[in-house]
Amino acid sequence: MNTSLDAGPSNRLAAGPLGRAVVWLVGPRPLRDEVRLRREVDGKIAVVTGASFGVGEATARILAGAGATVVLGARTVERLDLIVAEIAEAGGNAVAVPLDLASEESVKSFADQILTRFGRVDYLVHNAGKSLRRSIHLSYDRPKDLNTTTSANYIGPMRLTLALLPGMRERGCGHIVNVSTAAVMFPVAPKWGFYLSTKAAFDIWIRSVAMEARPDGVTLTSFYAGAMFTRMSAPSGWVSALPGHSARDAGYIVARAIAKKPRTLAPAVVWPLSVLVPLLRTPIEILTTFLYRFLGDTAASLASVKKGDDRVA
Ligand SMILES: NC(=O)c1ccc[n+]([C@@H]2O[C@H](COP(=O)([O-])OP(=O)(O)OC[C@H]3O[C@@H](n4cnc5c(N)ncnc54)[C@H](OP(=O)(O)O)[C@@H]3O)[C@@H](O)[C@H]2O)c1
Repeated sequence: MNTSLDAGPSNRLAAGPLGRAVVWLVGPRPLRDEVRLRREVDGKIAVVTGASFGVGEATARILAGAGATVVLGARTVERLDLIVAEIAEAGGNAVAVPLDLASEESVKSFADQILTRFGRVDYLVHNAGKSLRRSIHLSYDRPKDLNTTTSANYIGPMRLTLALLPGMRERGCGHIVNVSTAAVMFPVAPKWGFYLSTKAAFDIWIRSVAMEARPDGVTLTSFYAGAMFTRMSAPSGWVSALPGHSARDAGYIVARAIAKKPRTLAPAVVWPLSVLVPLLRTPIEILTTFLYRFLGDTAASLASVKKGDDRVA
């Protein structure tokens, strides 16, 4: 099994007992009740986007381990094939279906293949995402910064929902999990504009849609994640030094969302902050603007601008 799913913070204090206690207290907590999870998902069809790495990969392995048939979607097909093979070896059911959220055709084909093969979807985990922390001047001539974040975080997941939701509503059941970020609760930060605005836009859209779908039996959990140790957070030194969840623990938080179906899952500090931040908007913006002048762009971000690569923030 892939041990990178168990990676923790780079900072020794955060990785130690104190950091772990903070994460446990602040939450949200991974589901530890395997029996309940199996009771919920056994024999069901779960679709996980962004299942080639990180949280999506962990989620796919966990749900398949509990008896679900899991459809793994992402662009890196060789990773999906490898994960599917390992799930099958462990006795689980999974299929890899290529998905590029930036392509309308790919999203349609992904949804069509799922519906043709299984006829239904019980759980839809919107996990795929594209992070970007980059000074705006570096994006002036990079339309791909706008395109990749908008498509992976907003338009692609909207299209996929539009394709799969009708069947869920007709059947009168289904649960959607949106893996969002705690930062959408106070969504203004220099250099994070593309990422935060697209994550916030999808959060608003899917919550609005869920208000229409809930009376038909389709429910939604918005998971506002704090730091999670994946290839996404790795280039950002300060994020990977914070206390946070391993990808596997984050997968078990998604499992909690599926088994218990809360409307929200978020670190406890998010709620008081979401009230305080709008009240203190001006002083916080002044302070953040001042502090960010001392923070450069990550080496990964600068290197990908140089190479024309868009995979890493
Ligand atoms: N890591 C954190 O600290 C953190 C914090 C808050 C929220 N989140 C959210 O957590 C979710 C999972 O992220 P992660 O940390 O596990 O990152 P990750 O390891 O980089 O995984 C991101 C996944 O999204 C997929 N993806 C990206 N663009 C795609 C596209 N156009 N079409 C289809 N799939 C695409 C990637 O697959 P391919 O490249 O193979 O397509 C990959 O499987 C994301 O929504 C992220 O915004 C992460």
